[in-house]
Amino acid sequence: MKKNRQFKILAFETSCDDTSVAVINSEYQVLVNLISSQTTHEDFGGVVPELASRLHLKNIMKLTQAAMSIAELTFKDIDAIAVSVNPGLIGALLVGVSFAKSLAYSLGKPIIAVNHMLGHIYANRIENPDLLPPYLALVVSGGHTEIVNFRSMADFDIIGKTRDDAAGEAFDKIAKLLNLGYPGGPIVDKYSKDGNPQFHKFPRPLNKKDNYDFSFSGLKTSVRNYLLDKTNDFIKEHISDITASIQQAIVDSLVSKTISYAKKNNVETIIVAGGVSANSLLRKEITEQGRKIGAKVFFPALEYCMDNAAMIGAAAIEKYKIKNFADLSLNAFSTKGVRNI
Ligand code: KG4
Ligand code: ZN
Repeated sequence: MKKNRQFKILAFETSCDDTSVAVINSEYQVLVNLISSQTTHEDFGGVVPELASRLHLKNIMKLTQAAMSIAELTFKDIDAIAVSVNPGLIGALLVGVSFAKSLAYSLGKPIIAVNHMLGHIYANRIENPDLLPPYLALVVSGGHTEIVNFRSMADFDIIGKTRDDAAGEAFDKIAKLLNLGYPGGPIVDKYSKDGNPQFHKFPRPLNKKDNYDFSFSGLKTSVRNYLLDKTNDFIKEHISDITASIQQAIVDSLVSKTISYAKKNNVETIIVAGGVSANSLLRKEITEQGRKIGAKVFFPALEYCMDNAAMIGAAAIEKYKIKNFADLSLNAFSTKGVRNI
């Protein structure tokens, strides 16, 4: 039988506040993955969309040249271009899509459109190239919280999703209330390591049987109310206990709903994806709870949890094999969620 030729994909990610360029080959080996995180937004406690677009525009060419040079490749070595087209900040996505289209046109290479959330899921295949559905995915990022049941990569159902804030958004907004900085998730994770998660009981909403939806905006309000009569000295003294209690509430919601669906439906494999999959407590608790119900749990390597172009390239590999290419009228969409383009 004829062996498939190895191929290389140059991938772009500009959906939010990270400009990223990567090259990945058909064996899911990442040859280079550069990420330029836009620290400008820290001053605003959240991403300013127009600034994000302008910074992508400023950085993307330089980052592409640097990536090609680090991987010791020329554009001739590249077989296809991949780019995230949805969901995300529309202006930010348009920078990546326009750049990728221009490059594809001038080089005469095919272009592959990637759903950013599917990209997060494919990040798991960088370490585990053979990880294929059926599996249950908990997708947790700054803009999304979804439990998705995958029968195949093209055939899936959304089992539950957030009714208001996403899990990452909850970490970010609560960290802002506590003046801890942005993005909040990694900071809360760090502070919580020395804290007592039972220090204060924050709410776990929609905690009913067979309800797989999430809600995190009440938690934010509850933290705000909790802080009302606390002095700055008290907050400073107990910051680790407070963050640990908040983190425990978010993780309990994510884990209990995922595990309860998995148990009821005899799921054998669970994967976690998106920026919040970097959370140390989530990784620990879902692995332990998964083990108890006989399910194996997978996460991306830490370096591929947050937004990066390697995961966009990873999601393009199977599309390349079946020549699922976009044409040059390709556009960006802000449409939410895990979806087939
Ligand atoms: O997937 P991602 O990089 O961007 C989006 O697609 O939104 O996710 C970013 C989110 C942010 O809300 C950030 O606070 C959160 O992921 N995050 C974490 C951790 N690292 C990043 N949340 C909790 N614990 C972490 N260690
Ligand atoms: Zn993301």
